[in-house]
Amino acid sequence: MDSSYTQLHQAESRLADKADKHHIYQLMVQSPEADINLMQTIYRSSTGRVGRHLREDFCGTGYTLSRWVAQDTSFSGEGFDIDPDPIKWGWYNNFAPLGDAAMRGKLHLKDVREPSLAAPDIRCAFNFSYWVFRKREEMLGYFTAAYEDLPEHGMFIIDVTGGTDSLSEEPFESENGEISCIWQQQNYSPVNHSADLTIRFRFSDGSEIEPPYRYRWRVWTIPELQDLLTAAGFSSIEVWWQGDEGDEFSSIDYQVTDKGRNDPCWVACIAALK
Ligand SMILES: C[S@@+](CC[C@H](N)C(=O)[O-])C[C@H]1O[C@@H](n2cnc3c(N)ncnc32)[C@H](O)[C@@H]1O
Repeated sequence: MDSSYTQLHQAESRLADKADKHHIYQLMVQSPEADINLMQTIYRSSTGRVGRHLREDFCGTGYTLSRWVAQDTSFSGEGFDIDPDPIKWGWYNNFAPLGDAAMRGKLHLKDVREPSLAAPDIRCAFNFSYWVFRKREEMLGYFTAAYEDLPEHGMFIIDVTGGTDSLSEEPFESENGEISCIWQQQNYSPVNHSADLTIRFRFSDGSEIEPPYRYRWRVWTIPELQDLLTAAGFSSIEVWWQGDEGDEFSSIDYQVTDKGRNDPCWVACIAALK
């Protein structure tokens, strides 16, 4: 058999070539049920209420929102993202299979600083996506838009990561069965804390999928974000620290804290109330 045929055949049968990047991202990076559980736990502990209308910022495929509206007819929500590709994929793959429940979720092809159709009880930005805002004024503008869009008792919740390893350019790898997920920051600037982030997926045959998302972001710290949330108008700002149960992507074992723990790599959430 001629070697060009063999090479072509091998290239065609690589696991990465058969994979759907949005499906793999959802599988490897997101845990919507754990996120929903965490948001409701924090919202209930802060307000005594159950959140009904969710806004998911930087929603991509709207995976979390789709699980939210699927709970029952009293749950609705909106997702915001500027990229038509994940929005379209998410509509067909996450919402359309829900039937009538899909109508309770609205995906907006819009910037996260745009207002909601209905004021959300809970507004979230997860997986540190809001770090695309690298300048103080940009982040303040986003937080102010979030504050103004919330009703009284509304909650804005964002996640944050850090630790002694957080500025390293070494890839951080986690596995789920046959697939590895590799987060890597490169070209970090100590002057302005910006870095290039890629999230790659490697399969058991060594082939890698094209990263679904890559961007330049800023590595923010909790006190900087607390100051900006205060400047945006938020009254109560709590830090919830991830416990030891579960793993870094699915734990719901969070405790409120004003100290945290100096781990090499930690994940926390900041919950800000209007
Ligand atoms: C890593 S994905 C987030 C996927 C998923 N929601 C998650 O939490 O893992 C980041 C998303 O942010 C979107 N994005 C970046 N800047 C944005 C902006 N200013 N307004 C709305 N979406 C934005 C990108 O299009 C991309 O889909």
